[in-house]
Amino acid sequence: MTVETRHTDPALQAYLNSIGEPEHPVLTELRQRTATHRLGKMAIAREQAALLTWLARLTGAKRYLEIGVFTGYSSTAMALAMGIDAEITACDISVTHTDTARETWQAAGVAHNITLYLQPALITLDHLISSGEDGSYDIALIDADKPPTPQYYERCLQLVRSGGIIAIDNILLGGRVMKPSENGSPPSLNILREFNRSLPRDTRITPITLPVGDGLTLLLKK
Ligand SMILES: C[S@@+](CC[C@H](N)C(=O)[O-])C[C@H]1O[C@@H](n2cnc3c(N)ncnc32)[C@H](O)[C@@H]1O
Repeated sequence: MTVETRHTDPALQAYLNSIGEPEHPVLTELRQRTATHRLGKMAIAREQAALLTWLARLTGAKRYLEIGVFTGYSSTAMALAMGIDAEITACDISVTHTDTARETWQAAGVAHNITLYLQPALITLDHLISSGEDGSYDIALIDADKPPTPQYYERCLQLVRSGGIIAIDNILLGGRVMKPSENGSPPSLNILREFNRSLPRDTRITPITLPVGDGLTLLLKK
């Protein structure tokens, strides 16, 4: 959830977007349609999708796991980039938001590539693990509710293959993660602060966080 890069001048970002890969018309339409939505800022920024799809192409990714679908911007972008044999597992709890995602998948011709689980993502991830899908995903994106981020991460670490990527959005929480903790801070702030602090010591991954969107962390699984 970001919609725009916070740490770059908007005019510069618009210019950078204009010299990158053109946005697919279905995605442009979805972005414009979602912008008027009360929760419009929940979709990932165009430049975040551009980076993730570039990585998908670079790594030849075929299996993608998404936690947090909303109206389908990131899942559609990934499906279009990954090609006809892409297999996408998508997790969300909102029928309303994902009805728009389903329409978008149809419009983009990628609906047959995507399996949507409409239940809390932790239940879906545990189901995938118990079904023997460990190590079978090339890329995962964590972009849902923030408090379970460490639990989502641990499960994605099981489900993503060695050499695969776990991406996590909104890791900066608008820059609040860098400021000292105050009384009354929401639990998600302290959880994300602790989580971010744990990354350099985590020997299972190689972490990098880019100031794209509201902070996009990329974890390369060893
Ligand atoms: C930030 S939006 C995802 C944006 C999406 N990646 C995109 O590019 O449009 C977060 C989504 O997570 C979903 N969500 C919230 N809590 C969840 C949970 N416990 N399990 C699964 N999905 C959840 C919300 O319904 C919402 O659609």
